[in-house]
Amino acid sequence: MKFFVDTAEIDAIRELHELGMVDGVTTNPSLIAKSGRDIKEVTKEICDLVDGPVSAETVALDAEGMIAEGRELKKIAENIAIKVPLTWDGLKACKTLSEEGNMVNVTLCFTANQALLAAKAGATFISPFIGRLDDLNLDGMELIADIREIYDNYGFETQILAASIRSANHMSEAAKIGADVATAPPAVIKAMANHVLTDKGLDAFLKDWEKTGQTIL
Ligand code: E4P
Repeated sequence: MKFFVDTAEIDAIRELHELGMVDGVTTNPSLIAKSGRDIKEVTKEICDLVDGPVSAETVALDAEGMIAEGRELKKIAENIAIKVPLTWDGLKACKTLSEEGNMVNVTLCFTANQALLAAKAGATFISPFIGRLDDLNLDGMELIADIREIYDNYGFETQILAASIRSANHMSEAAKIGADVATAPPAVIKAMANHVLTDKGLDAFLKDWEKTGQTIL
């Protein structure tokens, strides 16, 4: 499973990138607002740092506007994936932008039917939002499984990009189901390394080591 980082914070991307953990980046208007930076400037910096797809999201509501914004965002760098919302106009924009040879990430997907439409419209990525479904007491992971089954039934090449990931468990569950990509905030990716028994075991080893009076260096 590929790891995308869901942030517009350059330092956080750089830290994970140095460890080889970054296959791409996703941003959205809220993340750009949180960064306090100009969208083109910060997105360019991210694209210079990361080779893989960097999603930049349109904000128009009509297909024509999304297409114009998508073409403008694509000028930032070759590895831009244009992100459009899963609305009827978003699907129209997806079709046009995909046919022009752009990577298109269709976002805000909450049903298997929406994912089916995005694949038919030529999306490169479909972004089902797990956490936001879980917030409503629905099963976000079940949606990932449904989309996997449907895409595999018909050989759709659209990649399932599990999004709105809130926990390390979400990452392993998405990987078990076979999501192609998962995008998560840096803190969630780092939390994947944690286990209470690792901390406890390390503590015990170090206490025993102290008793030996030895040093390695
Ligand atoms: C994905 O592309 C979105 O930017 C993101 O995963 C949304 O996550 P949230 O629901 O935690 O805001």
